[in-house]
Formats: sequence, structure tokens, C-alpha cells
Amino acid sequence: MNSVIPVLDPASPQAEAINNLFLQVLLISAVIFAIVSGLILIAISRGRRRDTLPEQNFGSEKSEIFWMIGPVIIVIWLVAISANLVITLNAIPQADPDGKTNFNDVDLIVTGHQWWWEVKYPKSGIITANEIHMPAGKEKKFRILVTSADVIHCFWVPQLGRKIDAIPGRDNYIWLQATNPGSYQGRCSEYCGAQHAWMNFKVYADTDEEFQQWVASEKRTTEQPPLLSPLAADGKKYFFQATCPQCHTIQGTEAEATIGPDLTHFANRKEIGAGVIENTSENLALWLKNPQALKPGCKMPDFKLSDTNLKQLVAYLETLK
Ligand code: CUA
Repeated sequence: MNSVIPVLDPASPQAEAINNLFLQVLLISAVIFAIVSGLILIAISRGRRRDTLPEQNFGSEKSEIFWMIGPVIIVIWLVAISANLVITLNAIPQADPDGKTNFNDVDLIVTGHQWWWEVKYPKSGIITANEIHMPAGKEKKFRILVTSADVIHCFWVPQLGRKIDAIPGRDNYIWLQATNPGSYQGRCSEYCGAQHAWMNFKVYADTDEEFQQWVASEKRTTEQPPLLSPLAADGKKYFFQATCPQCHTIQGTEAEATIGPDLTHFANRKEIGAGVIENTSENLALWLKNPQALKPGCKMPDFKLSDTNLKQLVAYLETLK
């Protein structure tokens, strides 16, 4: 499900500014390319089919000054517009009144793992994976702390803004903004191992109402539906007998490990394996049957589940809403 991201279709003021810079640099480069290749073509067409050398000129103060000053002006201009954009994009909004940024006041902490993203909302305690919800709107800047649990990754949502490296032991900050509600594809953009290409995530920019609903729904610790179907109840039993809780968390149960993605509201997520497949019953069964076949090298081993256990687990995981 790796689809092409419309990189040149910005959906935020930040991405628009990056896009404009790109187009300006492209335009300047295209004009220079046209002038240089035009002069080469003129020289070639004038110089060929002649037995004698064309007229030779040595030294011209005027053209030397022109060739020096012209490029210097262009380079200064490029540095100025780039630096201006970098300063604007790096400015973290909502600074404290004293002008210092309060880094405790982040909206979201994103941690890169080989090969998925942990998504944690410090204010509400919500933890999920590979799917980010944020409120849409021109004025709403969503502050994100980006870090890594293992190697260097890079967080990038092309339609919403700049890239930021996820570095182990280091906190990097970025802010995102989405002008209109919608879903925006994100990618890891720093080579980080075998499944780098399958370290996708999605940003859902919600209306205020949708976002509040999502927060309310994710904040519930898992109250299982009072009556699990017999199949799902067996699945739950199997989940806790097997090694699942050694890697995963389901809030409100004794599963509290953080090696793999938090499964508390797993059934509400749209994709499995950081974008590898859509989250449907059939695909979930395929994934549990042998994750290594779908995402070779990922941390989830092939447990060689029996068909019965597989059906039970799928039934249980699908209750995690
Ligand atoms: Cu993570 Cu590339």
C-alpha cells in the first residue's frame, strides 16, 4: 500500500512555504541552465564546419565583473530566502511569556522504532502507533517531540511540513499544522534497516469535534465489552497464556510491555505493520500467521499458531476498540 505522496501539493502554510522556496530555486536554476546551454549551442553551431579557428578573445574586464557579480547576487539571494524559511519553520510556537519555549508543553511525543512509530499524547496519556490525530485549522500548531528508541529515523509528512530526524537520546522538536481536515501520509525518510520502506504513518487532521471524540474514545482504558463472544474470550485467554504480553501493552490489563506497539485500541487503527496492510480480519489473520512473511526482519516472530488459536486471537484483537 505504498502510494505516491503528492509532495508538491502542500496542505499547510509551512509546506506551502517550502514548496514556494523549491519553485523559486527551480526557476532560478532553470533560467541559468537555459542561458548556459543556449550559449553552448550557439558556440557549437557557429564553430562547426570551419577550417579555421573562430576569432579568439582574451580578457574582458566588463564580462569578468559581470560573471563575478551576477552569481554572487544570485547566491546571496538563495541564502537569504532559505535562511529566512529555516528560521520561520524552526520557530516553535506558544513560547512562554518570557520568550523561552516550554518544552514540557508538547502535544505529542513520537518515538521511532525499527520499524514503526510510537505515538504518545503526554497531556491525555493516550498511546497508539503509526496513526496521529491532530486538530485541523490554520491557527492550530501541533507541537511534536521526535526521538528514537534504537537507530536514527526521520519523521516526514511532505504535505504538512519539514523533516525532522529521530535520534536516540536526543529530543528534537517540530510543529505541524494542517489547513484543512484530511489524512496525510508520512514516511520514515532516513535509511534505518531492512524495513525502512515500511515505516509509514498517517496524520489525520480532524475537525475539532472529531478530534475531541477521538481523544475521548482513546482515553478509555480497555473495558472489554461485558460479554466477549466465546471465541474472543478464548482468544483473550490465549493472548495472556502466550508470549504476547511480553512485548505489547493493553491498558487496563496485565499486558504492559513496550517492545511492540500498544494494542489498547488496536481495532480502531486502519493499518497493520506501519502501513504494510489494511487492518481487516483477513489481513490480521495473515499478519498473525506469519509476520515475517509480510515484513521480514520485524521484531514479531512467526509463532506458528494453530488455525484455532489464530481465529481466537483475531476475534479478541478485534474487540480492542
Ligand atoms: Cu525508520 Cu527509516
